[in-house]
Amino acid sequence: MSKMNEQHITTGGMKMRMKIGIVGAGYVGLVSAAVFADWGHDVVCVDHDAEKIGRIRAGDLPVYEPGLADMVERNRQAGRLRFTTDLSRTAGELDLLIIAVGTPAADDGHPDLTALWNVVHSLKQCVKGDLTVAIKSTVPIGTCQAVSRFLNGHPGSRFDVVAAPEFLRQGTAIADFLSPDRVVIGCRTEAAKRKMQQLFAPLACPLLFTDWQSAEMIKYAANAFLAMKISYINTIANLCEQVGADIQQVALGIGLDRRIGPAYLQPGIGFGGSCLPKDTQAIVALGKDYGVDVSLFREVLRVNREQRGRIVQKLADRLGGVQGKTIAVLGLAFKANTNDVREAPALDIITRIVQAGGEVVAYDPAVNMESLKNDFCFTPAADAYQAVTGADAVVILTEWEEFHGLDLQQIRSLMRHPLVIDGRNLYAPHMMKQHGFHYVPVGVPEQEVAEAAATTV
Ligand code: UDX
Repeated sequence: MSKMNEQHITTGGMKMRMKIGIVGAGYVGLVSAAVFADWGHDVVCVDHDAEKIGRIRAGDLPVYEPGLADMVERNRQAGRLRFTTDLSRTAGELDLLIIAVGTPAADDGHPDLTALWNVVHSLKQCVKGDLTVAIKSTVPIGTCQAVSRFLNGHPGSRFDVVAAPEFLRQGTAIADFLSPDRVVIGCRTEAAKRKMQQLFAPLACPLLFTDWQSAEMIKYAANAFLAMKISYINTIANLCEQVGADIQQVALGIGLDRRIGPAYLQPGIGFGGSCLPKDTQAIVALGKDYGVDVSLFREVLRVNREQRGRIVQKLADRLGGVQGKTIAVLGLAFKANTNDVREAPALDIITRIVQAGGEVVAYDPAVNMESLKNDFCFTPAADAYQAVTGADAVVILTEWEEFHGLDLQQIRSLMRHPLVIDGRNLYAPHMMKQHGFHYVPVGVPEQEVAEAAATTV
């Protein structure tokens, strides 16, 4: 615990050390639990999955997140962080209960709130007295209101519901949690506002207090905007390939305009993960529910799907079809520094290659490939060199640091054909050309790749 945080929890004469319950031991729940415990609070993290809790207690976290395992262990040893499956035994003693369960997309694009409502029903049964309940799960607009109505339907207990959307990214979750651009809190009472001000006092960022609906909407709107920026830059990249421009230079030139900003202008294979696709789908479903034209976001999703297809098309164009060809796929995770493959573009791309008659050998440094190989019909490799051995082409789908440092000479010598389709623009085109590769990045015309090589030789 840092000096600053020790001061935070003891100054002002108020009770600053809170007893916090967090339901849901996924990304958001575990990171929140670890950080709040690190700030000195007494935290209990609850999950109904006994196997998961057993693994966590044994030091085996269900998510791969840099720095998280150490932070969890440090706080467990200090007695500030506990894990349990039993909500009823702890809920009654808490100052604050945070709900951070998953709300995955249902088939119709709406989030599935089953897990959230299960928690809410349990709370109503086991809490007698007052409790502040903060909802960190991403929930449709109107959920906090519905939860508050349900919980406060009977006399005896008073539940103060707070919307507390989370904006952390996988792979940088702890850093994002500790230095967010803002914290958004939707609440209705002064008491809840004060509690959340105390909780987030260690952060140097603005705290934005809003009504419930606006806080819920901010989460969807922010993620849909990021998704839109990625589909936008991918569309510009596709144009660059045809008109002879270089997307890296173009993105730099666009991003230097402060009205636009440089973030989320990296072109590639489109967005994946547990949030951007789901939350953009949810906005589309919302538009349908309320009769609002949200075709902009339908298009964002369509462009995103097409971007995956373009990778397979690039392969087929250069190999004369992928039927009977062996394709090495480097990277399965939806982005680097995570083992998460939810909505991972790589799995979709592999499926398309296999459906077109190609054979896939895949490698990822963090993803558990054994659990995926049968469903997605690929052969796992122990490392990148094994994956590329005898390959007709290599496709790079995750920007792992490890792939930056590959011995390109060796990779070239192991491949049957020197075709590299780079969905993440990891390498300098001239360097790849010098190593004898036929290198196809995103958003750079092949003519440009060839000319860049010619001018630097
Ligand atoms: C996202 C939001 O950023 C975060 O605020 C929210 O809480 C959860 O969803 P995350 O899913 O962890 O976070 O990943 P993010 O880093 O945003 O990337 C999402 C996807 O977009 C990845 O597939 C990534 O590869 C892709 N991406 C991102 C691009 O293709 N180009 C970019 O410039 C940025």
